[in-house]
Amino acid sequence: MKGTLSASVSSSSGVLFALSVGVLDGGALRVQMREENPIGNLYQVANVVLENVELKSKPFKLVQSSSEYTAIAFNSTDIEHTLAIHHRPFRMDLSSRNTPIWTFNEHGYLHYEHQRLKDSPPPTDGSEPAQSNDETLSEDEKTKKQLLEEIKKDMWDESFSGKIDSKPKGPTSIGFDMNFPGFKHTYGLPQHASSYSLKPTRGSEAQYSEPYRLYNFDVFEYELDNPMALYGSVPFLMAHRKDYSVGVLWMNAAEMWVDVERKAGRGSSPALQMQDYVPFSTISQTSATSTTTHWMAESGSIDVLILLGPTPAAVSDQLTRFSGRPALPQLFAIGYHQCRWNYLDEQDVADVDANFDQFDIPYDVLWLDIEHTDGKRYFTWDKVKFPNPADMQNDLAVKGRKMVTIIDPHLKQDDGYPVSKKAKDLGLLVKNSGGSDFDGWCWPGSSFWIDYLNPEGRKFWAEQFKYTNYQGSTPSLYTWNDMNEPSVFNGPEITMPKDNLHHGGFEHREVHNIYGALQHRATAEGHLVRSDNTDRPFVLSRAFFIGTQKYGAIWTGDNTATWDHLAVSVPMLLTIGGSGITFCGADVGGFFGNPDTDLLVRWYQMAAFQPFFRAHAHIDTKRREPWLFGEPFTSTIREAIRRRYRILPYLYTLFWESNQNGAPVMRSIMHEFPEDENTFEIEDAFMLGSALLIHPVVAKDVTSVSVYLPPSAVWYNYNTFARISNTASPVQVETPLDVIPIFLKGGSILPRRDRVRRAAGLGVHDPYTLVIALDKAGSAKGKLYVDDGKSYRHETHGESIVADLEFQGGVLSSTSRAWFEKRGAADGKVVTDQATVLESLGNRVERLVILGMKASGVKSVVVKKAGETAGKRLEFSEEEVVLEGVDEGSAKQTVVIVKDPKVLIGEEWSIVLS
Ligand code: GLC
Repeated sequence: MKGTLSASVSSSSGVLFALSVGVLDGGALRVQMREENPIGNLYQVANVVLENVELKSKPFKLVQSSSEYTAIAFNSTDIEHTLAIHHRPFRMDLSSRNTPIWTFNEHGYLHYEHQRLKDSPPPTDGSEPAQSNDETLSEDEKTKKQLLEEIKKDMWDESFSGKIDSKPKGPTSIGFDMNFPGFKHTYGLPQHASSYSLKPTRGSEAQYSEPYRLYNFDVFEYELDNPMALYGSVPFLMAHRKDYSVGVLWMNAAEMWVDVERKAGRGSSPALQMQDYVPFSTISQTSATSTTTHWMAESGSIDVLILLGPTPAAVSDQLTRFSGRPALPQLFAIGYHQCRWNYLDEQDVADVDANFDQFDIPYDVLWLDIEHTDGKRYFTWDKVKFPNPADMQNDLAVKGRKMVTIIDPHLKQDDGYPVSKKAKDLGLLVKNSGGSDFDGWCWPGSSFWIDYLNPEGRKFWAEQFKYTNYQGSTPSLYTWNDMNEPSVFNGPEITMPKDNLHHGGFEHREVHNIYGALQHRATAEGHLVRSDNTDRPFVLSRAFFIGTQKYGAIWTGDNTATWDHLAVSVPMLLTIGGSGITFCGADVGGFFGNPDTDLLVRWYQMAAFQPFFRAHAHIDTKRREPWLFGEPFTSTIREAIRRRYRILPYLYTLFWESNQNGAPVMRSIMHEFPEDENTFEIEDAFMLGSALLIHPVVAKDVTSVSVYLPPSAVWYNYNTFARISNTASPVQVETPLDVIPIFLKGGSILPRRDRVRRAAGLGVHDPYTLVIALDKAGSAKGKLYVDDGKSYRHETHGESIVADLEFQGGVLSSTSRAWFEKRGAADGKVVTDQATVLESLGNRVERLVILGMKASGVKSVVVKKAGETAGKRLEFSEEEVVLEGVDEGSAKQTVVIVKDPKVLIGEEWSIVLS
């Protein structure tokens, strides 16, 4: 059978809901449930989230259909799945390889408060005592009646801190439970300043007293270890156990709350009674723990994707297949960014830029905060401080550097300000509940907000980025969208009233969480408009939502210069990256307050390995550019930044992989070692791709850290190249201020560029060093992706190289043939010929560093290129390093260094060590 299962579900009060369940190609099940006859249109987030996604239904087999149950079987990622639907009460049980992995409404929390007009009859769902004379009621019933009357008063009109929320569709809400039998660990639900493995909010293990709240907010000095809402939200969660990962994504942009509860056992199992056709053979009630999640949203509909795994990598792939692949950033965007509120004027900009050169610190982008504008009118310049903005940008551009200006969504109400005036005249603004243009306060005072829900609003916004509109902007200027939750200083909880109105008649309550992402999108579209679709956008946003990764990067907002904030940035970024938004970072140094030197140094050392790397500081803080602290601190910070620049080829390849399959750039150790239970709660260390494990120092006066290196792999100390001999127990590593504990996983080939230039783009013709770390079998693998780092010619003309590097049996080989053959093949594209691509992108390898060879095992090294019969001998040297380890401190081992092997990345060749 192909298609979807559809049914009508009736609530006890007789309201009808349309249910549909379908299996999608690409590893997902989609469950939708919505009111059959709502009062108004229901906002369908999926129309935006799934836009441009080819949704193909997958065939399934109907294995049972009776008045009590319906059961279907289907194959996904080569795994047999069964979904059993229990009709009365409604419940769904999904099993994979005969083991339950997900259930819906197992706890009966499904509750759908439909839309109601004020004078419609009250619900008769049994929640209210029947109409009766008060005297006949018990005390309990009287209290309940009184309470209901109290609540009812607020049902169409709620007042909150002196603000009134008119609720024209009544007290809508949707709640349901999704359960993960046998899964103790869950991850996701950004954004919270909390742990990576989600802490339970209910039950005996509860660590918070409230559910995780998802409602994009501008929070002043946010608290740590807290489920309160922050700037962005992605209603995505992944449950993981040793043998399985499964994800859920609720496509709903309304205010949401999620409770997480751990329970002993594997949950209740009506499925057991269905054994005939649901062979839940492995169900056992042994010591397993299950996780129950209770999801509640204020409005919208149920539209959930169940991402079928079975590994964290598969879930990331499925999540981004549906919600969008992370855009491939330009190369400069993954370099180092220098920001503060504010660089004061053109002279300040020139001085800061010159100091980077003087102190020999690479950087790519200098940022200007709100003070650069003419009275917080975005797309303008303060004419006194920035009289020649184009010259200023060009002065940086000749050194390969860029600028970013802040462009917030609030528009100063001022008829002399064309952006605001035109948007108003064209009717593109968000309206208040009475239908007039919404008026709120933000930085410029009384402001308007463009309605990005309106395609015309987005188009108008995008056009503001044209060089003719944004006077003083040049092609090296990019954008920062802040305050787009949206932040409204005089609004309820510092945001827009929920009864504000958007395009299509939707209330703000239905679309709140997607608003900022749509501004982000419109800005990215603006970058495309101004460059005629040739230059990849770079836009940083503070608010985020499902699919933000399609538009650009995000940062974690206004953190504080404390050790705790540094520490929490690791789990926060792991969570955000694991939720699809792989280009993310936290402000280096902490936004509020003044970090002491140790904290600042440690922050750089950690952040040099986070995907988006920007230093930023509040206007009231002391200046803290890297050269202001004297030695040894300046050198230590310089070295941290230079370390990042050396691995840019590797990092850029990771961003490309992320663009192909959603793999987080910065990922948890669990993501790489999903079967190792010791990794499930690690959040003080992380992986950058699959090759590097970083254990940053995130606490004061720490002289050593204890590092868990999964023993199933071989590990090398990246700083000394020494192999770690015993990883069975955590390894203790000394951490003087200049040491960042970094480990290289055996089996990896890490491409680097060891010459560091002033900016990322200046190094693109420099040669590579390949660090080859052998695994137990003496093998290693890696990839290197190369394109022009800025345009779309890799897509339109196939101008890119994917080199597959492999070391096996003493032979290192490089091939790109498969890639060259594949380019454009599917859509019959005309691609640039291979020789031309190689000529512009194929750089030389200048050095091989091979770790893990046996001492004095190498007698000769010979290189052979495709088509050549005889090889050429190469020079090499061996260096002995001492094994670092717990038990075998003195064992010897060799690092083989081959200089100038005379090969190009992109060509086919092999190098034989014998
Ligand atoms: C917000 C931003 C911060 C910025 C400031 C001024 O607080 O989060 O990064 O510097 O506004 O624009």
